[in-house]
Amino acid sequence: MKEPGRYLVTAALPYANGPLHIGHIAGAYLPADIYVRYLRLKGRDVAFICGSDEHGVPITLRARKEGISPQKIVDKYHAINKKGFEDLGIEFDIYHRTSAPLHHKTASDFFRKLYEDGEFIEKEEEQFFDEQENQFLADRYIVGTCPSCGYDQAYGDQCEQCGTSLSPKELINPVSALSGNKPQLRKTKHWYLPLDRYQEEWLEEWIDSHQNDWKANVYGQCKSWLNQKLHPRAVTRDLEWGVPVPVEDTDSKVLYVWFDAPIGYISATRAWAEEKGKDWEKYWKDEDTSMIHFIGKDNIVFHCLIFPSMLKAHGEYILPDNVPANEFLNLEGDKLSTSRNWAVWVNEFVEQFPDKIDVLRYTLAANFPEQKDNDFTWKDFQNRNNNELVAVMGNFINRALVLTKKYFNRQVPEVKELTDYDRVTLERARAIKNDLEDRIEHYKFREAVKIAMDMGRLGNKYLADTEPWSLYEKDPGRVATVLNLSLQLAASISIVIEPFLPFTAEKLRKFLNISKLDWGLAGQSNILEAGHEVNKPQHLFQKVEDQVVEQQVEKLQEARRKKEQQERGVEPAKENISFDDFTRLDIRVGEILEAEKVPKTRKLMKLKVDTGLDTRTVVAGIAEQFSPEEVRGRQVSIAVNLDPRRIKGIESQGMILMAEDAEGRLTFLSPGTKTQRGAVVK
Ligand code: 2FM
Ligand code: ZN
Repeated sequence: MKEPGRYLVTAALPYANGPLHIGHIAGAYLPADIYVRYLRLKGRDVAFICGSDEHGVPITLRARKEGISPQKIVDKYHAINKKGFEDLGIEFDIYHRTSAPLHHKTASDFFRKLYEDGEFIEKEEEQFFDEQENQFLADRYIVGTCPSCGYDQAYGDQCEQCGTSLSPKELINPVSALSGNKPQLRKTKHWYLPLDRYQEEWLEEWIDSHQNDWKANVYGQCKSWLNQKLHPRAVTRDLEWGVPVPVEDTDSKVLYVWFDAPIGYISATRAWAEEKGKDWEKYWKDEDTSMIHFIGKDNIVFHCLIFPSMLKAHGEYILPDNVPANEFLNLEGDKLSTSRNWAVWVNEFVEQFPDKIDVLRYTLAANFPEQKDNDFTWKDFQNRNNNELVAVMGNFINRALVLTKKYFNRQVPEVKELTDYDRVTLERARAIKNDLEDRIEHYKFREAVKIAMDMGRLGNKYLADTEPWSLYEKDPGRVATVLNLSLQLAASISIVIEPFLPFTAEKLRKFLNISKLDWGLAGQSNILEAGHEVNKPQHLFQKVEDQVVEQQVEKLQEARRKKEQQERGVEPAKENISFDDFTRLDIRVGEILEAEKVPKTRKLMKLKVDTGLDTRTVVAGIAEQFSPEEVRGRQVSIAVNLDPRRIKGIESQGMILMAEDAEGRLTFLSPGTKTQRGAVVK
């Protein structure tokens, strides 16, 4: 196959309305970064494009809920996610944003061209309108009962309980998520992309032409859409937040987020090219460019059917060569979920394990959900670190450096004579490099990372088999040859692990006292010259202890418990205290003798309570819910050894114990049957 002149590699623009977790990273970003790092090592011309997707209804809903502007929300998460990628060593050439003026212009121009060329179908249709809020309701702004499963919080575009795709009119009892009112139907005009026509004219044929070079899961999903026949798709919405529709008199209409977001790849490329003095059009319009979109499986239809339709309708653009979408990653056997807080968050991982970024990259790559959903577990993270990175690769590098120091004063020794075994080892190293290329170029990163690790296995086995430590007295020349080859293998390792473990590769280059090497040198026997001085031996990786795994699993479960409690309206548990601390509290059964409202307050009631020990005054915040008549004569639990407090000028000498539910409703904790005043509660 002919090598393309350049590559344009994109990774799905994440919505800037929440932080990233490892599922996002394993889905699109890490595979893309591995691929791009490999291309760069090969000296290929590549632009690696990403940025924040800053439009869409969930962002506006969130902003509304928090009482701030959508811009504030996206500013916050754009910064957090940009840093998260940097911390993970995911090196985009640009991390742009769709709220940028250049993007608005690029997306508007694109829409206008299609409009002027008559590509769109214009349709006037009835849509739900919220009269109180005076606006049309996007699908996500309408909630109702799912006709398939009866779930009563289904959205106008999808039921999140059973997964059924819906249209707002299918919902039973639809209400506006903005006002809670029943919405009315009103006429509104929108522009549609005629996907049905494209399917017939060229789209299906184009997808079919990729049956053998696209991943089975991607091709399969496209075919399933096509088999059900595509329909015209609206590319505008009645909303305020987004890229305004640039034609006719269209107040309060914006481009549909899935129309403008992929154009974000184009605007980001333009911004990058401007900064670097490059020609962006070459990357988008020249047939000699290979365009690759890395995405998660939920984005397949947009990148394989809709965006290519837009590009083709425009007429000046190339189409993607490949869209290597991954399936989903699970965590400890359960679906990753932002709403249930079942996730390993990038920012938290980076903070807790700043020296284990590569271990995460390695574990994720080894578990990429390439063909089907797959699982990340902390135990696997530990095993891969301890049994593979530390025990194999780290061990080999350390032994090679220690022995070079011991016998050759840190200088790469000269090769004396190669044995057959040495030759076989070198051959194997070259084979590893070739296999690795083949897998990366075919987007098989799980196999690739295993093959990269094979270079470490090869080195480790070579040292174990040749045992240079027991040979020096008898045959120093043989030791020189073995260590020379070992150091050449170490240098090869620094190359082949660069796409997967970039921080480790850099560390290893420092150990070996070399700068970044070209891909082509991997597996060669003359990377390091005899006499080159390496640095003092150090460890590449550190062990992960059992305790770390236990803590992380416990942390996950704790986070989930908290979330579930919150959802049930239960306050999260407080920290444990000692039994002694508990027994220091003196709680008694008391009886309320007198009660009166504290003047000029809403909540406070002044009580006279017989505690069995004495009669005291207590001020309690119960007046909104109880009248003095209701509480007089009631037995209650009262904490009697608290320091007195002055409340509204009255000294309160104890505290009545109450249960408070999520709505703030209070209940007295009274003994079940009448009992002695002063009885101890324990
Ligand atoms: O699914 C998502 O997170 C989308 N924001 C991806 C957009 S990809 C591209 F089209 F911008
Ligand atoms: Zn449902």
